[in-house]
Amino acid sequence: MATYEEVFRRSIEDPDSFWGEAAESITWVKKWDKVLDDSNKPFYRWFTGGELNTCYNAIDRHVEAGRGDQAAIIYDSPVTGTVQKITYAEFLDQVSRLAGGLQSLGVTKGDTVVIYMPMVPQALTAMLACARIGAIHSVVFGGFAPKELAVRINDAKPKVMISASCGIEGKKIIEYKPLLDRAIELAEHKPQKCIILKRPQAEAPLAAGRDLDYDELLASSEPADCVTVAATDPLYILYTSGTTGLPKGIVRDNGGHAVALYWTMKNVYGVDPGDVYWAASDVGWVVGHSYIVYAPLLYGCTTIVFEGKPVGTPDAGAFWRVISDHGVRVLFTAPTAFRAIKREDSRGELLKQYDLGGFEALYLAGERTDPDTYQWAADLLQRPVIDHWWQTETAWSIAGNCRGIELLPIKPGSATKPAPGYDVTIVSADNEPVPPNTPGVVTVKLPLPPACLPTLWNDDKRFLESYLDPFPGYYFTGDEGYIDQDGYVFIMGRVDDVINVAGHRLSTGAMEEVIATHQDVAECAVIGAADSFKGQLPVGFVVLKAGVNRDPDELKAELVQMMRDQIGAVASFKQVAVVDRLPKTRSGKILRGTMRKIADGAKYSVPSTIDDPLSLDEIGVALQGIGYPKSE
Ligand code: COA
Ligand code: AMP
Repeated sequence: MATYEEVFRRSIEDPDSFWGEAAESITWVKKWDKVLDDSNKPFYRWFTGGELNTCYNAIDRHVEAGRGDQAAIIYDSPVTGTVQKITYAEFLDQVSRLAGGLQSLGVTKGDTVVIYMPMVPQALTAMLACARIGAIHSVVFGGFAPKELAVRINDAKPKVMISASCGIEGKKIIEYKPLLDRAIELAEHKPQKCIILKRPQAEAPLAAGRDLDYDELLASSEPADCVTVAATDPLYILYTSGTTGLPKGIVRDNGGHAVALYWTMKNVYGVDPGDVYWAASDVGWVVGHSYIVYAPLLYGCTTIVFEGKPVGTPDAGAFWRVISDHGVRVLFTAPTAFRAIKREDSRGELLKQYDLGGFEALYLAGERTDPDTYQWAADLLQRPVIDHWWQTETAWSIAGNCRGIELLPIKPGSATKPAPGYDVTIVSADNEPVPPNTPGVVTVKLPLPPACLPTLWNDDKRFLESYLDPFPGYYFTGDEGYIDQDGYVFIMGRVDDVINVAGHRLSTGAMEEVIATHQDVAECAVIGAADSFKGQLPVGFVVLKAGVNRDPDELKAELVQMMRDQIGAVASFKQVAVVDRLPKTRSGKILRGTMRKIADGAKYSVPSTIDDPLSLDEIGVALQGIGYPKSE
């Protein structure tokens, strides 16, 4: 068996043979002409000339190979009291019928379809039905409000949308249909048709001429065959938060994505076809796209669709129950989920009720696993707890502990070593690689491996500006961190205005845009302050217009409601401080980084470029007024 070092070295020194060999695991309609196509640098493409269908690789070929009776999906929904197994053969029937239904509505190769659904198996059916006919899906997380959905509709310009009457968040029923209707009202682009899954928990009156019933469409449609696409054709667009209110449409191609994700199942996660693999996330996030949907299905595993929470559905033993009931071999979730469990059952008493049997390893991502959470989970589970670092942009881990190649010793707080394919380099602000243990900006030397974004949807210019221009020859991750003397990667946080709340990536810029529209607000800033449960929480600072005098609690309630209405509850925006001025540089740039340090109780130096040093003291006082820095 090759060691991690050998595999890694080969992936960097000879990517053609490394990924060419990996690509043999995928069924191609036509083989590629080139593995790595660098004819249009800095745009790199993988498997140019190749043709395939991702849905065929994720479903049909498993049925053809005799896996038809194996569960493709286990839908476990404590909030509706449902456990349902869907075999690969049944899933094939549902996906190909919905694909036929989409075709009957005029959806063809290259068209876009926006999916806004809760954690139900039909969300996966919708994604794969698009992939089957070469349509490009764009799933929008259900926790986003209509305005955010509208922004994505305008950018993706879907011919059809697929949604549901409601989602269920713990004990709350979230009616999706009114949110969808409102988003379409707000959007300039209007989809021709909407397919609505009616759930018994909420009514969804259908708009005549526009809306169709999901189940009726499925029942009345003929199954559609797979449509062949180019390896470089887009499979999906997934919007993610950037530094402004306008989200970035990350493009994922078909060929490189199928190859890389298939490869990760054995090499990163150490599982085999037929195993039960569980990513406790949401289909609306990249973790959901890659590890609830595509990777486990491409690899012939059983994937779990869990419509519940780590706590409260019904208790902090929910994860142990699902692992034990379904024979889960690997669980992947966000550290915040484990902090939630720890908060309710710190001694892990509930674990004693379950036999975790063949459960082998816990993988965490979405935010850094802090050493305390690592230790708690490792002591409790007595199995490897693996932090791995990645982003929407990459679709799979940039650094991790590739258990399927070689389980390396774990260092708490580190995402272990760069994954094969990623030449991770820490650079200084003036683009010089730095020595070990020196903090800097985390970059990846080009080319990025397969599955990573080839560009942004309809926006090559923004792709270059955001990711490639800042450090020529390198991909700019937006994260800061260091690599230690043993080559271990430590990711410490973002260098931009992106924050991470309960593993959800959000833009403080987008939040500032919302606050700025309040009639009484002259100026504002939002920072992400450390939180022991959700990792970070947004804190807003507002300067009122001259002559305006407002009750702070009333103003806060209005701003909180605006944020829920315009970005969504997922923003977890609940804290506002009113100040007389914001600390700025002489050129007018708000010193958000310094404000964040004050909120976190970290050491900071007063920047020499500051306009008015006393403004920082005022921020400190305002933060104290709302309980910062936190004492825990
Ligand atoms: N649809 C509608 N609303 C949603 C939603 C969805 N899909 N997901 C979250 N929300 C709402 C929540 O109900 C909550 O609303 P509230 O303010 O009215 O209570 C709000 O958005 C904030 O949600 P969240 O930050 O998730 O907090 P929570 O207290 O509901 O749950 C955790 C906290 C830790 C249990 C939960 O975030 C979790 O399980 N996270 C780990 C897994 C994960 O999803 N990771 C993401 C990427 S790996
Ligand atoms: P997303 O695109 O939503 O997956 O968020 C990506 C960002 O989350 C990264 O750029 C990091 O800032 C953060 N992140 C994700 N996983 C980790 C991890 N394991 N360690 C540290 N930060 C992480």
